[in-house]
Amino acid sequence: MKEVDRIHFGSPLEESRQGEVLDMQAPEEHIKEERRKLYIESYGCQMNFSDSEIVASILMDQGFETIGDYKEADVVFVNTCSIRENAEQRVRNRLKEFEAAKQRKPGMIIGVLGCMAERLKARFLEEEKLVDLVVGPDAYRDLPNLIQQVDDGSRAVNVLLSREETYADISPVRLNSNGVSAFISIMRGCDNMCSFCVVPFTRGRERSRDPESIVKEAQDLYNAGYREVTLLGQNVDSYKFKCNEGTRTVNFAQLLEKVALVHPDLRVRFSTSHPKDITNEVLYAIAKYENICKYIHLPVQSGNSRVLELMNRTYDREWYLERVDAIRRIIPDCGISTDIITGFCSETVEEHEDTLSIMDHVKYDFAYMFAYSERPGTLAAKRYEDDVPEEEKKRRLTEVVNKQREHSLYRLENFVGKVHKVLIEGFSKRSDEDYCGRNDQNTMMVFPVDERFKVGQYVNVLAETCTSATLIGRIVD
Ligand code: 5AD
Ligand code: SF4
Repeated sequence: MKEVDRIHFGSPLEESRQGEVLDMQAPEEHIKEERRKLYIESYGCQMNFSDSEIVASILMDQGFETIGDYKEADVVFVNTCSIRENAEQRVRNRLKEFEAAKQRKPGMIIGVLGCMAERLKARFLEEEKLVDLVVGPDAYRDLPNLIQQVDDGSRAVNVLLSREETYADISPVRLNSNGVSAFISIMRGCDNMCSFCVVPFTRGRERSRDPESIVKEAQDLYNAGYREVTLLGQNVDSYKFKCNEGTRTVNFAQLLEKVALVHPDLRVRFSTSHPKDITNEVLYAIAKYENICKYIHLPVQSGNSRVLELMNRTYDREWYLERVDAIRRIIPDCGISTDIITGFCSETVEEHEDTLSIMDHVKYDFAYMFAYSERPGTLAAKRYEDDVPEEEKKRRLTEVVNKQREHSLYRLENFVGKVHKVLIEGFSKRSDEDYCGRNDQNTMMVFPVDERFKVGQYVNVLAETCTSATLIGRIVD
């Protein structure tokens, strides 16, 4: 799953559902009940950001309001990521700042949520003395109760993983939203056991969410003015839900169609696809509906079949390339992005060159690239030696990054001179005189504001030039 920058959640667009409360003891005065203030900061993949919206929803039902300044908060949550060691280190550094704030504001509750909570469990309370709460990704419904335990003077932990929990009935509170695009979580957990990956241990077994609740969430978002949804799962292609007491199964291709049919003006994106599971049926569904974006995030991890086998990816180089050929055949112009790990256990220089050559073959639009980071408890940590020296991992990473830079530019240059349908997502970061939004292939475009068109509308934009990551153009409607 794509990793996004740390972001804090505050100032939700939705008003809190809790109204003003009259104090019966003081009839002359209308005293507004103080709502407890919640600050949530999220790290890691989009699923964590989506989970924070569920957490906010659960606590707003308890009378909390969300705020954007942790120093003012009664409860500070950090929704954590364990995918690489440096992700955990960033969280620990940030916790130091929260702990300093707590010393200035006694009574502040600090909670660690998500993957690090699940990985470290009660040990977290030993290691970080000022943390009050440790809550795993399947235990968020228990938060009101756990906060009560902290209010009563104990520290609280719930890291139980579930085989059923999908939070299907909880309407996420859209936080830090542009009011145009939103995430919808369609499944949780992962059963794949890639040998480098900690996710199966921190997020538990894979389970899919009821399609009716997904379609309803998409419809509600459309009705509220949203125009793009991203369906989220660790491996969306293995989505499977048994309906009608098990007599009928909905797979990912069918789910995509159902969501696409909510409204032709609702764009549908999804992440992450797994090369072993992405079927032609899914590709045909993408090709069939104009509003399903022509963009697939298809992590390759390595271009070498021996390394892929050690990674337990369950496909080889040929299989991956066949899937890419199928994408190109069934969905011409489809954007493809990927994830790559350099310096996995025992990877040789020649094997690393296979990764460079698969990149040359596919010419990805975009890539997330990482040096291998051994995670405790994973299959690789147990079975294989982390024997590629750190400098060599970094050197290979630099080669991969440089190659990707060339390919991204190649793709961008191919877009120049063409007209793209863009959903206006907001104003550009640099200037209020420019709008920004993405084309079908997920490439960011920046173009001058035209008063006839508002945020949330579609426009045709001619790409006139590009920087290293953005197309620059003008509306030609
Ligand atoms: N080291 C480096 N990168 C990793 N990823 C997952 N686990 C590790 C690890 N131990 C990368 C993979 C995955 C992405 C989300 O993070 O490329 O697709
Ligand atoms: Fe991790 Fe592999 Fe599952 Fe992705 S598919 S979350 S890399 S185990």
